[in-house]
Amino acid sequence: MKDNLLSRRSFVKMSTASVAALSIPAIMNAAGNSSEVPQTPQTPQTPQRPQGQMPIPPQWLPKTVSPGWDAGDADSFTRYYFDSLMLESRYIDSDIPSTKLNLFGETFDTPIMTAALSHIRGTADESGLAVFAKAAKECNAVFWMGTGSDAELEEVVATGARTVKIIKPFEENSEVIRRIKHAEGLGCLAVGMDIDHSFNMRGGYDIVMGQRMKSKSTSDIKSFVNATKLPFIVKGVLSVADAKRCLDAGVSGIVISHHGGRLPYAIPPLVALEQIAQAVKGKMKIFVDCGIVSGVDAYKCLALGADAVGVGRHLMFLVQEGVDATAKRMKEMNSELAGVMSATGIMSIDKMDPTVVHHTIL
Ligand SMILES: Cc1cc2nc3c(=O)[nH]c(=O)nc-3n(C[C@H](O)[C@H](O)[C@H](O)COP(=O)(O)O)c2cc1C
Repeated sequence: MKDNLLSRRSFVKMSTASVAALSIPAIMNAAGNSSEVPQTPQTPQTPQRPQGQMPIPPQWLPKTVSPGWDAGDADSFTRYYFDSLMLESRYIDSDIPSTKLNLFGETFDTPIMTAALSHIRGTADESGLAVFAKAAKECNAVFWMGTGSDAELEEVVATGARTVKIIKPFEENSEVIRRIKHAEGLGCLAVGMDIDHSFNMRGGYDIVMGQRMKSKSTSDIKSFVNATKLPFIVKGVLSVADAKRCLDAGVSGIVISHHGGRLPYAIPPLVALEQIAQAVKGKMKIFVDCGIVSGVDAYKCLALGADAVGVGRHLMFLVQEGVDATAKRMKEMNSELAGVMSATGIMSIDKMDPTVVHHTIL
């Protein structure tokens, strides 16, 4: 159904709001590129109420079912969960806050970073990744880069953006280490791996751009950590179990993420965040992505234990409009974050307070 929906519209002209509601498999199809993210298996059309720890109130389902909705759509559940979290105000003794982020020895103006993307469309003059990197640099924000060639990484690093390079879980660890060394040689801020791309979700290992992937053990991850002077980050953590394995492997940070809905019925990253923060907060950096479309969403992540957040699809289509348009929205999001911080008495992002956030059932 999503594909039909997409074919009726111009892929290029899609609004960021509508894009944020689409799963990554649907976006990749529309872009004519299904290799980075494999198809989600077809699911029954009848919406099913998910079971488990997170209660989805039944009244949410009928009114949100749309032609683009799939049962088990983790992106939809993630949005529901964001919207179920509400904030109390704390005006007295509050003031204008700082949104500065200290990360791996450097200072940035915002904890709102770009999510690790790849294959994104750019302008007539520049590649999408170069535009996105320049926008991040313009905002003094951390730029994350997904899969791509050595030349693409060299291109984004040359923009001056402080870059975190995420490497795919290639079958051969020697290829992973070669790419780690390449990123290190270019002076990247950090390096990491999206471990949630090892399987193809049809019972086998994934193939990305013709290259075979393989799942990684704790000891594989430890070997990547030991292969570099850079901080090593694992992206695609959605459980305390994996977070603890990352801690055992000595990683510097994790990205709590379901990679835009790769796992049907994946819990919202914010559900995992609260549990993971209790287990590992302060022992490694905690980043969150998936479904963040405003500074208020970013605030909720930070309040519940994230050190910084990544924004992907919400910004992705602005990239085609150029550096200024992308940077403008990134700055707006940071202003939205600062606005909520001042109204809730939070003066800096290292002083966030989870008791501001109330869990409600809409
Ligand atoms: C076009 C596209 C390409 C992506 N490529 C990568 C990638 O190469 N590596 C990676 O770790 N994540 C990749 N992602 C996943 C994003 O980093 C992020 O986890 C996901 O989009 C959820 O965030 P969002 O809801 O803000 O988009 C990609 C996402 C999109 C939309």
